[in-house]
Amino acid sequence: MTDLAARLRVLPGFPPDLPVLDPDRVPEDPLELFLAWLEDAIAAGARQPHAMTFVTVGPDGAPRSRTLILKDVDEHGLHVSTHRTSRKGAQLAADPHAAMLFFWRESGRQVEVRGSITALDEQTSQTDWQARPTYDGRPNLDWQVYALQPESIEFLQAREDRQHTRIAYKRRSESWTHERVTTPAG
Ligand SMILES: Cc1cc2nc3c(=O)[nH]c(=O)nc-3n(C[C@H](O)[C@H](O)[C@H](O)COP(=O)(O)O)c2cc1C
Repeated sequence: MTDLAARLRVLPGFPPDLPVLDPDRVPEDPLELFLAWLEDAIAAGARQPHAMTFVTVGPDGAPRSRTLILKDVDEHGLHVSTHRTSRKGAQLAADPHAAMLFFWRESGRQVEVRGSITALDEQTSQTDWQARPTYDGRPNLDWQVYALQPESIEFLQAREDRQHTRIAYKRRSESWTHERVTTPAG
């Protein structure tokens, strides 16, 4: 074992007094739970609670990931914005499937959202562009708001004993089904 491995092993892990996720009391709609967890993270003063890892698929079929900011949630799904000509923009044009991974370390919570991406209208994109702190009055026609319409959402609530609670939701046309995930979680 290297010295680095020894030091990594003793770093602090999950905080004490983790919240409990009762699998028998989760809502039918996963977005309700997602928004409740996001609100908890905001209320707890977490830094950038709206940041997530955004995963796309490259032309070689291999995943690519980067950090993006969640901009909104509505009937179109979860919004992010970026340059249409960015690498991720090109990847989304070729393959409109993506995943978002949120991790709120203060509460030991992780949410993976997977689904398909649509590009929202120009007005939405320009409104987002204008709200950026660096906006100088000029429009940016390369700026694009995308919405990820969730097809599956998996929640993980960490536990001190590492028997983490995981609930997987799947979309069934207008409703959702959910079940507890029991494969090893680390
Ligand atoms: C905390 C954080 C937030 C970020 N938010 C965004 C964002 O909302 N939109 C964006 O285009 N890039 C954002 N970036 C930069 C991206 O992570 C990425 O480097 C950039 O978009 C280029 O990605 P690509 O080459 O895969 O297209 C953010 C980076 C960090 C560290």
